[in-house]
Parts: sequence; structure tokens; C-alpha cells
Amino acid sequence: MRTKIAGIGHYVPEKVVTNEDLTQYMDTSNEWIIERTGIEERRYAAKHKETTSTLGAKAARIAIKNAGIEPEDVDFIIFATLSPDYYFPGCGVLLQRELGITHREAAALDIRNQCSGFIYGLSIADQFIKSGMYKNILLVGAEMHSMGLDFSTEGRNVTVIFGDGAGAVILQPTEDDNQGILTTCLHSDGTHAEELAMINPGSHSGYHLGTEKYGYPDPSTPGGTFVTQKMIDDNLMAPNMSGQLVFKTAVVKFPAVIKEALENTGLETTDIDLLVPHQANLRISQFVQRALKLPDEKVVNNIQKYGNTTAASIPIALSEAWHDGRIQTGDLVCLAAFGSGFTWGSALVRW
Ligand code: COA
Repeated sequence: MRTKIAGIGHYVPEKVVTNEDLTQYMDTSNEWIIERTGIEERRYAAKHKETTSTLGAKAARIAIKNAGIEPEDVDFIIFATLSPDYYFPGCGVLLQRELGITHREAAALDIRNQCSGFIYGLSIADQFIKSGMYKNILLVGAEMHSMGLDFSTEGRNVTVIFGDGAGAVILQPTEDDNQGILTTCLHSDGTHAEELAMINPGSHSGYHLGTEKYGYPDPSTPGGTFVTQKMIDDNLMAPNMSGQLVFKTAVVKFPAVIKEALENTGLETTDIDLLVPHQANLRISQFVQRALKLPDEKVVNNIQKYGNTTAASIPIALSEAWHDGRIQTGDLVCLAAFGSGFTWGSALVRW
């Protein structure tokens, strides 16, 4: 028994935000952003009208239709995001409600593996399908970053990179030996957890990084440590990133985890028909392409249009490539991601 991708879809919000648009809020330039990241524009969701789960639902409807099933056929939902609608419950149940998947056997799982969320979700789905537990798994990666970014110059190194969007796949069992997920490789290392992170609000109350910076009260004070006034006053509730550390680590881990997947399956880099890397930064993807000696036509890059959409980036790029006719039956598609945690992973899929 193997797991196949039976349906695929993506959705990006209508609003286009160019690099030039960002110069209204922060000291940056189109040239700086393009040179360092390759990004030309990104999409932002419509506030009050769209949320992470509604973006996910739009992508999911396309994937469900593409698979030739109905929403009520979905028996398991996996939702990957770092920008959920609510702190809890997770987006999985909100998507379930949005799609009207109301039968009692359905279940929803939320995963928080940031840029690697889609690969982790794919691996989880693969195990559930192979064990025979579920027959139609809906895996969604969606992000609404625009709601949590710091638009001042202080936040520019992070803010210019990220965009909103969603992608989804339907996963089903297949007995065809020549099709489906061949392997998934997952890794993590929490040593640098805070180097690409949104630390507040949270339950840490200064445990990892000291109490003073965040203005935590005396520990005997009951409650009141989730959000402190100092966090708000000092603008400490936005994501932070050590760009150079992320870059240096990513360009090592990406090729290594792709090679691991190839070794697991006895395949070579020359067997890859299409590499769909997480769209972290065009420079990272170009580095990986060179390390694997892949020609341009074998690597998907759409970060120029959408920025880095974290858990949504692989399913958006995969869906776009499929809808553009870049993936044919029998092709070997390689997916790979690296991001916050650090977490990273890869998957090989025979289409
Ligand atoms: N516009 C203009 N200048 C900016 C800027 C922006 N958006 N962001 C940062 N800068 C400035 C910095 O303040 C710094 O100025 P200084 O020299 O006066 O102090 C200068 O540019 C260089 O900053 P640095 O952070 O060293 O730049 P960099 O060359 O490392 O590029 C990144 C920054 C973020 C583009 C780069 O590190 C990167 O792409 N890292 C990987 C990030 C990534 O992929 N994240 C997602 C992982 S999933």
C-alpha cells in the first residue's frame, strides 16, 4: 500500500503588495529585497474578510474537486500553519466547519512545524494511509503572515520576506507500485529555537531568555504573564530572525536531506524530474540547485510572486507546477523544506 496525491489546489489572496509598496512603511528598497531574496511582490489577505483557515478552505475546495471527491468524503484533516486564526482551537476544526465536514468520524489535527509543516504533514498522512486508518486525508498548509508582521524599519529583515496564501492536497491509498510517496525524511534540532521565532505571547514567562526584557511581574503574581505591557510598549510581539544563521544552516540541510531521501530509495539526483523546494529565499533555492547540479527547468521557483508563505509554500508551488503542466504521470517529484525550529525534511513522490 502506498499513498498518492489524488488532488491538489492552491489559493492566494487578491491583494498584491510590491516591494515599492513596503517602502511607505519602512526604510527598504526594491533593489535590496530583490538582490537578497529574489522577491518582487507578495499577497496579503483581506482583513475582516479572510483568515488563515478561510484561505486554507479555498485551497482545500480546489484540491477536493480535483480529486473527484466531496468534502464529506474527507476522514482526516491535517492543518499546518504558524499563523492560526486563534491561539486555540487550531485551524483544523475551523476549516472542517468552513467546508461542512460534519460527519462524526472525521478528525482534525493541527501541526506546528513552520516552513517544514507541509512535509511533516505529508509524512503523518502517509503513515495513517499505509496503516489503513484513513482513506481521504486533506492536508492543508496556510498562512496569514500579514497580520503579525512588524511594519516598522526595525522589523524589515523579516517583514519583506513573508506573504499570505494556502495550498492543499488530498491523499489516498493506492496499490499501484509505480505511484505515490516513496519516502519522507524528517529532522529537527531545537538548539537555535529562538533564532527564527515569534516568542510572544507565550507561556515562557522569561524562562528561556530572562524575565526583565519582557517585563514579567514577580513570579508569585497569579496569571497575567501571557502578554505583558512591556511586550506591547517595546514592540516585542513580532517575529525575529537571525537571517545569516538561517541562510547558512539552510544551504547545508536542504541538499543533505534531499540526498538522504534519494539514498533511502536507491535513486540519484539525475532521477529527479522536478524539485519543489520550500520557497524560503530565491538565493537559498539557487544554492541548493547548484549543489544538486539540477538544470533550471527541474526546479520550481515562485517566491518572486508570493514571497515566503511558510507552510503554504510547497503546496502552492506544487499545485502551480501541476496546473501549469510541469508534472506528468510517472515523474519523480522531490519536496524539501527547512525552517524555524530548526526543522527540516524531504519527500520523494512518484506522480
Ligand atoms: N531593507 C533594507 N535593508 C535591510 C533590510 C531590508 N528589508 N533588512 C535588513 N537590512 C539591512 C540590515 O539592517 C543591515 O544593515 P547594517 O549593515 O547597516 O546593519 C544590512 O541590511 C545587512 O543585514 P543582514 O541581516 O546582514 O543582511 P543579509 O545579507 O544577511 O540578508 C536576509 C538578510 C534576511 C535577506 C538573509 O540573511 C536571508 O535571506 N536569510 C535567510 C532568511 C530566510 O530564508 N528565512 C526564511 C527561512 S524559512
